[in-house]
Amino acid sequence: MTASTQPADGLITVPRGLAGVAVTDTEIGDVRGAEGFYHYRQYDATELARSASLEQVWALLLDGALPDDAAAADFVAELATLRHLPPGLSQLLTALASTAGSAEPLAVLRSAVSAAGTSLGLRPLWDGNPQSRRHDALVVAALVPTLLAGLHRFRNGAEPIEPRDDLGHAANYLWMLRGEEPSAVDVAALQRYLVTTVDHGFNASTFTARVVASTGADAAACTVAGIGALSGPLHGGAPSRALDMLHAIGTLDAAEPWLRAALDRGDRLMGFGHAVYRGADPRSELLRDTVRDLADAGRDPALVDLAVHVERTALDLLTELRPNRAMGTNVEFYAGVLMKLVDLPPELFSATFAVARSIGWCAHVLEQTTDRKIVRPSARYTGPQPTRR
Ligand code: ACO
Repeated sequence: MTASTQPADGLITVPRGLAGVAVTDTEIGDVRGAEGFYHYRQYDATELARSASLEQVWALLLDGALPDDAAAADFVAELATLRHLPPGLSQLLTALASTAGSAEPLAVLRSAVSAAGTSLGLRPLWDGNPQSRRHDALVVAALVPTLLAGLHRFRNGAEPIEPRDDLGHAANYLWMLRGEEPSAVDVAALQRYLVTTVDHGFNASTFTARVVASTGADAAACTVAGIGALSGPLHGGAPSRALDMLHAIGTLDAAEPWLRAALDRGDRLMGFGHAVYRGADPRSELLRDTVRDLADAGRDPALVDLAVHVERTALDLLTELRPNRAMGTNVEFYAGVLMKLVDLPPELFSATFAVARSIGWCAHVLEQTTDRKIVRPSARYTGPQPTRR
């Protein structure tokens, strides 16, 4: 805003939702909405999702370079030491699970991460050094699947299962949920989903985690804040809703009338639209390929056919009814289908997104700590004017 257009209160007005505003610099990655492209550091993220392991991508985000085999093995070994519950936390998880009632797993996870931060004795990032900050950010993200799987099992009357040091992050998550060796097909599909979603520019939860990091708070506090932002249906709370929509539609023939009625009511179709992409979300395209592969391997081909049909039908309707706004499916549309095909319980879909995104938050939180400026914007007061003596 130029001086001549600057309002008398001296505040700069930014677009609603901070859309299009660069609030900081980052070397971690970016989303180029108009191009339908996103990247982790200097690598095409969808290429990495097809070719790299979750641990390689995690090391890339955290430390800045794709590790060679030896460095990747070291990182895997480091993660293995951080994945175990700290002493005493198991009792806290039992208590949390038994009082959680019908609360969303993501809400229970939020409390569990907070408790883990206390059990681990995490100190404010402000008081640490680069090594301790890296350790704290890493341990919180490494613990997320352990906490989630433990809570899920407690809530279902089962004992938690210890992580295995010989399994990777994706495989461990399935192992700790099920207590049986996960199939290679399940691990590969889940790993692809996790790599696809570890990071995505300055999305609401990443920004939130960084705001908290800018205050110098501890790494668990940053992750708890990120989970809170992620939990909303406009962000990470959509995959089970998208799958619910497919179940509600039920058949190929029902798709058009069902979707038209929903749009006529003014409903938002879950898994469609995006704040940055104008058109196709590359993550959705990648996950569509992945669920097609799973269908070819015999995993619920009818559901995959229905999803592809609903996608096409809804996009035609959106083009007809909202011609001025190009829209595509977002990552959440096929994420729910993928998680169903690898047999994750639907109540864990959104929380599984947190397994991935906590990895991105961990890198962003660390990057934020290199800037010692607190994030502290302003709001324009529009209420009644106060009286002043
Ligand atoms: N279904 C129907 N109409 C839609 C949809 C949708 N899914 N998305 C946007 N629109 C409409 C909006 O209603 C809006 O019209 P309005 O101003 O008259 O209400 C118009 O399109 C323009 O909206 P945008 O500016 O494109 O959307 P915005 O950036 O505000 O929101 C969002 C993006 C939240 C993803 C939105 O598209 C949405 O609510 N989608 C459904 C929920 C969803 O899928 N969430 C997961 C997002 S992906 C992620 O966070 C990982």
